[in-house]
Amino acid sequence: MSVLPKIITIDGPAGAGKTTVARMLAQKLKYAILESGSIYRTFTWLLLSKKRELLPLRNEAKILEVLKEEIPKLDIKADSQGLKVSYQGTDLTQELREPEVEAHVSEVAALPSVRKLANEILQRIAENRPIVAEGRDMGSVVFPKTKAKFFLTADPRIRAERRYLEWQAKGLVASKEEVLSKIKERDHKDSSRTEAPLTVPEGAIVIDTTTLSPEEVVNRILEALKSSHP
Ligand code: DC
Repeated sequence: MSVLPKIITIDGPAGAGKTTVARMLAQKLKYAILESGSIYRTFTWLLLSKKRELLPLRNEAKILEVLKEEIPKLDIKADSQGLKVSYQGTDLTQELREPEVEAHVSEVAALPSVRKLANEILQRIAENRPIVAEGRDMGSVVFPKTKAKFFLTADPRIRAERRYLEWQAKGLVASKEEVLSKIKERDHKDSSRTEAPLTVPEGAIVIDTTTLSPEEVVNRILEALKSSHP
């Protein structure tokens, strides 16, 4: 392969397999992985733990003020394993996946000023190393100039099944139907918001992962990269 683009984007809805695929790809290519959802989850966790009363969201200016005050206390590191976030020395990996964060993250991510703040952080991280950027608007808004864009999708039932198994493994109790309805609700919020809605970025290769294993998806991506950068 000739020199690959320094930024590879993978967008798509929840449960399409982005995180697993981005991780495997990053490890193969020795890129860092930039899980943009973790930034929105971190912001949501910060608001829930510091200023609960601001949720449900009303006062965008106040939210921005709180986030700007708290962000310097975060340590955010990207490597080929994922994005590691800690707050004043405490690792937040578990907290960011909690159902409460999950329940509020879409509303936090819908705020234009919050997105601007997240994008600045993401672009700054990408300045220093090659990355696989994974999220909802990586190819459309945050890194629109890259020549390597992918969009993963899958049947909502399969996506819910994957999330259900993930939750079960963590000991969280929810029925399949509940998970499916939460996934659909989040899809709706992420796709219908006015600011950077979930959409197939221009120039992106779409891969339906419904019947594919993560390895098969990674191979398709590598093949596409090879043919466009022979
Ligand atoms: O990928 P994830 O499940 O960790 O993302 C959590 C939420 O963050 C998702 O519901 C929408 C939001 N998000 C976003 O708006 N834009 C991104 N680039 C990534 C995530």
